[in-house]
Amino acid sequence: MATLAFEAATVAENYQRYLEPVLFGPWAHRLVAYAGVQPGDVVLDLAAGTGAVARVAARAGAEVIATDSSAHMLEYVPAGIRTLVCPATSLDLPDGSVDVVLCQQGLQFMTDPVGALREALRVLRPGGVVAVSVWANDERLDPFDAFAEALQRDATAAGSTRTISNASVATTVHGIVDDLLTAGAADVRATRQELAVRWPTVDSEIAGLFGTPFGPFVEGLPADRREHVLDDVRERLSSDGRTATHLTTSVLGRGVRR
Ligand SMILES: C[S@@+](CC[C@H](N)C(=O)[O-])C[C@H]1O[C@@H](n2cnc3c(N)ncnc32)[C@H](O)[C@@H]1O
Repeated sequence: MATLAFEAATVAENYQRYLEPVLFGPWAHRLVAYAGVQPGDVVLDLAAGTGAVARVAARAGAEVIATDSSAHMLEYVPAGIRTLVCPATSLDLPDGSVDVVLCQQGLQFMTDPVGALREALRVLRPGGVVAVSVWANDERLDPFDAFAEALQRDATAAGSTRTISNASVATTVHGIVDDLLTAGAADVRATRQELAVRWPTVDSEIAGLFGTPFGPFVEGLPADRREHVLDDVRERLSSDGRTATHLTTSVLGRGVRR
């Protein structure tokens, strides 16, 4: 279900236009540094999306493979980076063929995140590193929380009993450590990091909604309801209507293939 949410071509296009450069790109530098990627490493970017992490790893001199279940997301990965459309739990790669596996903001969308980590360990060489990041579940996360709250308000006003949650808020340091240990990783550790994200304009931050799994739903709303939702998002994101800077918090975890 959650995987299908990124299947739409419009979600991929808007993700790459609005969310990747401002939010996921800057965070990608943190994950690549945390994993200790070296020039010449073979790096697998798991749930790569439009390639935010793959780009940074390639710039660090790695040979990168980007894999995702959504072919539309992978269309935006730059030329020179190999792409592979497959679910994270079933990678079309040989055992022990990769030095580093990176997964940024992907595990929380998967039905079997531990299975995906096990598969990551399978394709790693002994001594290879798997490093992941997931939003911290105890901090506010804008713009995604604002999107979910505005849609919840719209659903309630329309008489729906549906609960709308922000699927992208997912874990704790202990949660990541447990998942990595359960999957069979050694030398496991995790930490929290913060990053202040400054959106060039409030409009560009609001447009990020169309790069999320909420996008196709909002596009399908009657025009008056859609405008109302977007006005509501604007109020939640910006106190002065012009600037939007939000603190984001992630949990980064890493482990080693025995
Ligand atoms: C929030 S995006 C993160 C993309 C990228 N890692 C980044 O940092 O910009 C989540 C991605 O996870 C992918 N995804 C979700 N479930 C997946 C699964 N089971 N196997 C592979 N990819 C999956 C989605 O298609 C989507 O591209």
